[in-house]
Amino acid sequence: MLPHSFTMIATIIIVLTQTFVGVTSLPQADKISTLPGQPQVKFQQYSGYITVDDQNQRALFYYFVEAEKDPTSKPLVLWLNGGPGCSSIGVGALVEHGPFRPGDNNVLVKNHYSWNKEANVLYLESPAGVGFSYSSNTSFYTLVTDEITARDNLVFLQRWFTEFPEYSNNDFFITGESYAGHYIPQLAQLIVQTKANFNLKGIALGNPLMEFDTDLNSKAEFLWSHGLISDSTYDLFTRVCNYSTIRRQMIHGNLSDVCEAIYILVFTEVSDYIDQYDVTLDVCLSSVNQQAFVLNQLQETQKIDVCVDDKAISYLNRKDVQDALHAKLVGVSKWSTCSSLCYSVLHYDHRNLEIPTISILGSLVNSSIRVLVYSGDQDSVIPLLGSRSLVNGLAKELGLNTTVAYRAWFHEKQVAGWTQVYGDILSYATIRGASHEAPFSQPQRSLGLLKAFLKGNPLPSIK
Ligand SMILES: *[C@@H]1O[C@H](CO)[C@@H](O)[C@H](O)[C@H]1NC(C)=O
Ligand SMILES: *[C@@H]1O[C@H](CO)[C@@H](O)[C@H](O)[C@H]1NC(C)=O
Ligand SMILES: *[C@@H]1O[C@H](CO)[C@@H](O)[C@H](O)[C@H]1NC(C)=O
Ligand SMILES: *[C@@H]1O[C@H](CO)[C@@H](O)[C@H](O)[C@H]1NC(C)=O
Ligand SMILES: *[C@@H]1O[C@H](CO)[C@@H](O)[C@H](O)[C@H]1NC(C)=O
Repeated sequence: MLPHSFTMIATIIIVLTQTFVGVTSLPQADKISTLPGQPQVKFQQYSGYITVDDQNQRALFYYFVEAEKDPTSKPLVLWLNGGPGCSSIGVGALVEHGPFRPGDNNVLVKNHYSWNKEANVLYLESPAGVGFSYSSNTSFYTLVTDEITARDNLVFLQRWFTEFPEYSNNDFFITGESYAGHYIPQLAQLIVQTKANFNLKGIALGNPLMEFDTDLNSKAEFLWSHGLISDSTYDLFTRVCNYSTIRRQMIHGNLSDVCEAIYILVFTEVSDYIDQYDVTLDVCLSSVNQQAFVLNQLQETQKIDVCVDDKAISYLNRKDVQDALHAKLVGVSKWSTCSSLCYSVLHYDHRNLEIPTISILGSLVNSSIRVLVYSGDQDSVIPLLGSRSLVNGLAKELGLNTTVAYRAWFHEKQVAGWTQVYGDILSYATIRGASHEAPFSQPQRSLGLLKAFLKGNPLPSIK
């Protein structure tokens, strides 16, 4: 072991070098030596905080995973989960497409379809109040909006690139899902407007909220056509009080009796034991006595652990894990997956759900930024029906002709979904058998989709 004084001097020299000579290497303080229980790997991982507001001490927490091979030549991909208020590390990294998933007995298991096979992946907990991200001035939490989130995310990126200058010339992509259907276009638009020089090449949105009425009302047909609600309930749910009306009334605190009755009817018929985010997947029945609720879906080899969310929560709440991640809990007693829900650190302005972002996609396409919208086709929360019609409508509005007609796409000799491309720049795809969190239930197909998207290729047409 080195003497303490020597380590201290070495640290001072490193700090001085970074201050006066400019940053020439990645920030060593944020480098993860190893995560508790992780298998040995050859790539590097970093995590820590980037301050986005110096005065109010607001800082966003990130986890950065370098590509398994050749990181310098691979693109940089930012991943954002939605909510609003949910964590990209607890969900995106640990449940969907990070290098490891939490397994039994406190070990991390290698994910063979992790996105860092194709890219350097940056997971960001945003806005402040989500996960390990915080604002020391708690008045920030009173009302957080889309506008604030986009602005903080932009500042985060500017400062992150200063810390990681090696990545400033790589192709840059922004990806995410669900409410990130707001975050991603809004951030991309800000990048374009401020002429931030990030090499932004494209964005990909999974089961995104893009237009309140179209997205939410596609739920009725989805539930009905999958046999989850009856003909008569479908009729009421479309004719008497539709889902966007129900949600709008909930947001404004004036849910009418007739709408409430239909809402209850729908959810009684669907049953509590259905995962709304994947209507074909089993639910995690017990998070206490971890029985093996493992589902064989479609392929024998593909096992899905439906209790992985709970494992991610306990993993990220371990002190040794937090230390290894350079994370701290500021103003909260525990890490939670979504902080605008039950624990309510953060009050997100839910009226923002009604802001349409589909038109922003149009202006991004106009700025030559590649846009992909994809849908896990078993999701009833933001079903494929709404997303597909929104993209189709946008293409018409922009006058983009179909360049790849609606067809099946393939992965490992099976149909992995359907796709259509407009003007070689705007595309839509489904992922067959996938949930709202597509890479969770269809990791292999999702990785195939990412790979084609990053390369700017249409999805593979035949086995
Ligand atoms: C906290 O933020 C609020 C709103 O931005 C501001 O008015 C207030 O002065 C800040 N408090 C401190 C202690 O800086
Ligand atoms: C949903 O209900 C509202 C209010 O009744 C109505 O304006 C809207 O057109 C309906 N949308 C659909 C898709 O039925
Ligand atoms: C519910 O509240 C919103 C916003 O305050 C208002 O615009 C709307 O008219 C109200 N609806 C009903 C049915 O009272
Ligand atoms: C895209 O560009 C076209 C042609 O310049 C313009 O007419 C249209 O309004 C633009 N659309 C958006 C959504 O910015
Ligand atoms: C789109 O298709 C129409 C009809 O085939 C054609 O007239 C038009 O030139 C095409 N537009 C582009 C941009 O290729």
